[in-house]
Amino acid sequence: MTLGKEIDGKAFAATLRGRIAETVPGFVEQTGRKPGLAVVLVGEDPASSVYVRSKGKATVEVGMNSLEFKRPATISQEELIELVEELNADDSVDGILVQLPLPDHLDDKAVIATIDPAKDVDGFHVVNAGKLAVGDPTALVPCTPLGCLMLLKDELGDLSGKEAVVIGRSNIVGKPMMQLLLAESCTVTVAHSRTHDLAGVVHRADIVVAAVGRPEMVKGSWIKPGAVVIDVGINRVPAEEEGKSKIVGDVATAEAINHVAAITPVPGGVGPMTIAVLLRNTLVAAHVRAGLPAPKGL
Ligand code: GUN
Repeated sequence: MTLGKEIDGKAFAATLRGRIAETVPGFVEQTGRKPGLAVVLVGEDPASSVYVRSKGKATVEVGMNSLEFKRPATISQEELIELVEELNADDSVDGILVQLPLPDHLDDKAVIATIDPAKDVDGFHVVNAGKLAVGDPTALVPCTPLGCLMLLKDELGDLSGKEAVVIGRSNIVGKPMMQLLLAESCTVTVAHSRTHDLAGVVHRADIVVAAVGRPEMVKGSWIKPGAVVIDVGINRVPAEEEGKSKIVGDVATAEAINHVAAITPVPGGVGPMTIAVLLRNTLVAAHVRAGLPAPKGL
């Protein structure tokens, strides 16, 4: 059996970050300030803390300002909304990201609804979700699905007419991924936990995007020979070695590699793209807010 190729998301993301770093000085020259990204972290969830630290580091590395707002898990809804309103009013802030999930007593929909859509670099506000749905090019698009689309276009070129199956219907990945693929003229099916004969549905696909959060749920035999598979899953599972853990995706990669044309590895596939696209969205938001044309080639 032939082995498929691994898509190097890490390298693609590094190239994108390089293009962003090259574009920032022009913005600084024209506006007299750096683009700024504000990240809000509520509580001390270890995984969220790691993500927020990586985002801050990557932001500074491309020459933008990183502002971190850490608040205790006991923060009230009113206090959190007040913080977002302050960031909305702060002209040095171009992007606002409230790290999810929030503690249970907080209403994430209300918090997201408070973010100025022009600063919503996560693309989670209903204004941006609506713009994406109606094909308005000024939408800020959620980072992970936009990163997946960039990898797919790099691999396949024109996606028009292809059968795409998205597994998962979250607002963060599944639904925006569906919109992006539809806008590329794919025939899109969104599968989820209630889908009958998931194996059969997946087997139709030229493009599979797996975003369910269940370790290695998608089996190699489900994949149509020659399909391109994007694995969004990041699942921590026990490793072979006693007491150790490892990260696996939503796809059983060791099997799938024998069926696919190409697949993103976990880690090193989609993960690095998310942060690179966040920086891209921040730079785009900064240009639009400053009345400058959106940077090209990003
Ligand atoms: N938690 C997991 N992924 C994301 C993301 O893309 N944005 C935010 N704000 N929180 C997340």
